[in-house]
Amino acid sequence: MSDSLIARLPKIAAAGKKEAETIMERAKSCPSVSLQADECVYPLISGGATATEKEVSSGEWRNRLFYGDNLGLMEALLAGDPLTDLPPLGGKIDLIYIDPPFASRSGYRAVFTVPGAGGEPLALEQQAYQDTWDDGLCGYLRMLSPRLYLIKALLSERGSLIVHMDWHAVHYVKVLLDEIFGCKSFRNEIAWCYGGGGAAKRTYPRKHDQLLWYTKGNEWTFHKQFRPYTKGTLERGLTAAKGGRYALNKEGAGLDDWWAGGEVQKILSPTAFENLKFNTQKPEGLLRRIIRGHSREGDLVADFFCGTGTTGAVAERLGRRWIMIDAGKLAFMIAFKRLLAQQCKPFFNQSANDAVSPAYGRLAVKKSVSRGSAGMEELTVELFDYQPPCGERLSVPAGAREQIQKLIASDPLALLEYWMIDPDYDGRIFRSRWQSCRSRRGEGLRVDTKAALLVPRAAGGRRICVKAVDVFGCESREG
Ligand SMILES: C[S@@+](CC[C@H](N)C(=O)[O-])C[C@H]1O[C@@H](n2cnc3c(N)ncnc32)[C@H](O)[C@@H]1O
Repeated sequence: MSDSLIARLPKIAAAGKKEAETIMERAKSCPSVSLQADECVYPLISGGATATEKEVSSGEWRNRLFYGDNLGLMEALLAGDPLTDLPPLGGKIDLIYIDPPFASRSGYRAVFTVPGAGGEPLALEQQAYQDTWDDGLCGYLRMLSPRLYLIKALLSERGSLIVHMDWHAVHYVKVLLDEIFGCKSFRNEIAWCYGGGGAAKRTYPRKHDQLLWYTKGNEWTFHKQFRPYTKGTLERGLTAAKGGRYALNKEGAGLDDWWAGGEVQKILSPTAFENLKFNTQKPEGLLRRIIRGHSREGDLVADFFCGTGTTGAVAERLGRRWIMIDAGKLAFMIAFKRLLAQQCKPFFNQSANDAVSPAYGRLAVKKSVSRGSAGMEELTVELFDYQPPCGERLSVPAGAREQIQKLIASDPLALLEYWMIDPDYDGRIFRSRWQSCRSRRGEGLRVDTKAALLVPRAAGGRRICVKAVDVFGCESREG
């Protein structure tokens, strides 16, 4: 008879520790994973400026969005990357929030809407990630255990880890975390409560997730936060239990360890502006609370299972630096577009040398350069055809094959999710200075196919490089 889960847990923790120690050792001497400096992205500012003025000087911190498995990428973070000025990050991250798969034994999807061949928009539902594990919960805990050890190594002395879980695995993960961080480093379990969804018939509906908060050391960053008083409290204006009349705090009631409604409301409406059509996306309000509460301006915040990029998007608006990782191509694309849409600071988009390389399509482009005034040149770049990779390399959802084939034949550019231009490609790092992304509605359902850029004249001519990514995550490059 095989051992029970509780009997296997010490072995899982020990194996995770050993694996993490090997990785940490390797990161010091000869890391097995190195980073590719794929892209540096200078988001286009509204009004069409080419973002050259937002150039970052060497040595300055750049935020980073990584594509790939977080185990190898955490090794790369511990090692640092001199080519892109990334220092070794052991002990340097101030807040890590993770929202990993929950061991739910389900698959999760993302929906992308493309212009259909017959005029009607076509909603393409694709698998974003799978939450099933060989050997069930044990397999899941085996995956998580070395990662939690590495996370501890990356945290700064005042740093906090917040692990987002639900009922499937939280109790076992809590035991693992107690082993890794020490029971005394456990600060709170926050219940994030929400409504919506189905109602169970024979049990209570499951309407909360758990956020487990651990700190690395005995000193930590914590900013008390407040929520508005309830209507009843405002009307009474006194704390009956204390028997006297107290003035209400003008900031509101101090937050307890359960959070519900208001700012942290779950994204329920399919038409909500925030809804990026990714099954397990978390609301920005939740991340706002976490980031405000557990970090300071300028701090480094990381999310190693970032999905749609909620953590980085919010961290940036709150003046924090950020690092995000996801192993899912669709999640990565959504996070990437989200950052561009909010005109974030320039960031690196990198992958590890062991990342699964995307399938490649073919792009046909017309380019022209004309002399402008005051030492400038005008570049015009036009996309006029696109061929996605064929056969097996293109994983089209079964129900949409016929429609996608029609679209490939009649309007292949409608398949593009975004495209970008580097007006001065150096053959190594793609510096994206102009981007066009498909948005989710109406006219915006297709990318602009023509770009005009005003750039400083290049003395010895220039190499214009164009890169596009389609709705299936296939890339293509021209130039
Ligand atoms: C629950 S979702 C995160 C949702 C995110 N909090 C949001 O607001 O959109 C979990 C994510 O973890 C990613 N993931 C799973 N295993 C991973 C791994 N080993 N390395 C990196 N990312 C991983 C999945 O691709 C998925 O996007």
